[in-house]
Amino acid sequence: MSRINMAVLLVLGLLLVTAKQSTQMSLRNPSAEIESSNCKLATLRVGLVLASDTNEKALLDSGLFTPDSDNPYVDHVGRRFNIGKLGSTPIVYVKTGTFSVNVATGVQTLLHEFNISEIVFFGNAGSLNKNVLVPGDVLVPEAVAFTGVWEWEEFEAQNKGQLAFGHFNYPLNGENTLGTAAYENITLYSPTEDPKEVFWLPVPLPWYEAATEQLTKDLKLKECHSGRCLPRTSKVILGLKASTSDFYVKNKAYGDFLLGKFNASTADSASAAVALTALSNEKPFVVIQGVSNVVGVNGSYPELASQNAFQVAAAFISLLPTQRLACE
Ligand SMILES: *[C@@H]1O[C@H](CO)[C@@H](O)[C@H](O)[C@H]1NC(C)=O
Ligand SMILES: *[C@@H]1O[C@H](CO)[C@@H](O)[C@H](O)[C@H]1NC(C)=O
Ligand SMILES: *[C@@H]1O[C@H](CO)[C@@H](O)[C@H](O)[C@H]1NC(C)=O
Ligand SMILES: *[C@@H]1O[C@H](CO)[C@@H](O)[C@H](O)[C@H]1NC(C)=O
Repeated sequence: MSRINMAVLLVLGLLLVTAKQSTQMSLRNPSAEIESSNCKLATLRVGLVLASDTNEKALLDSGLFTPDSDNPYVDHVGRRFNIGKLGSTPIVYVKTGTFSVNVATGVQTLLHEFNISEIVFFGNAGSLNKNVLVPGDVLVPEAVAFTGVWEWEEFEAQNKGQLAFGHFNYPLNGENTLGTAAYENITLYSPTEDPKEVFWLPVPLPWYEAATEQLTKDLKLKECHSGRCLPRTSKVILGLKASTSDFYVKNKAYGDFLLGKFNASTADSASAAVALTALSNEKPFVVIQGVSNVVGVNGSYPELASQNAFQVAAAFISLLPTQRLACE
């Protein structure tokens, strides 16, 4: 008997033994089983998402990323998907570009083109509450909303929106022909449920709890960059809510409004796009925001914010077990 025939017999023998244990195995098509018994286990990578050059510089300067030696990157829809390891965890990272359309396009492409286990996003944000978050701090929010989705209402309207421009007239409040803006929900599409209207996009809980335990321990965040130091020791804060819009929020009155009306502690232009895209793909995700400035206060630390947010992202990723796709 040839060696090949022996091998086939051996495999068939194994199949018969395992068939008793596995009700899923098809006995009608043993050749398919032989093929898949040789399949290579595909590694699931963590998808690391960032939006800007400053964020990417923090990652590259850390020295923690090692590009894959055979296949260091793939380009899709104008973005470079960098393949490699962060520490010892297989990842793909992508710089999406800023604002929600670019961020969502980048995340969707990542999920479409790679076998991704979960999405970790890190980026910069402005603090809306200087009593809680100051530059250098890192927030891992429990939920994020799009707060740039408005329906404009006439100023005489009965159904007024939450944001009444007249309340911000200077020097005296009054009516204003800009009327009011009503904050709208957004449609969350999903492969297994009917589309639904939502305002808050929650960060999936099991992940969140895993982070709570570990991230606040033993992590020493950076306090100085190019000789410029932060006002106080930075902290990682878990919980609170975040807001995202396609405008850069610098205005103190508007920042106070977002905090007062929605209890949102930060403003950025990316997080909700990551959340919505991940939820639509039913992928676990986490949002990690480095505070670069306090809205309405002079002084911005974009590099330190990126470095600290990246450090928390890297610590988080190091806690994740590497997952593999089982052979079918
Ligand atoms: C994802 O995993 C599947 C199943 O193992 C494999 O066929 C496919 O080539 C993988 N895709 C990529 C982009 O690695
Ligand atoms: C938005 O959705 C929430 C449920 O997530 C609902 O309670 C609320 O009434 C909706 N608001 C609008 C303006 O449709
Ligand atoms: C706002 O958020 C803080 C922190 O999570 C919470 O303690 C407080 O109760 C919230 N306030 C409102 C009005 O929801
Ligand atoms: C903030 O900076 C601007 C321009 O650099 C300056 O005009 C303004 O007075 C500063 N405000 C405060 C509160 O320091």
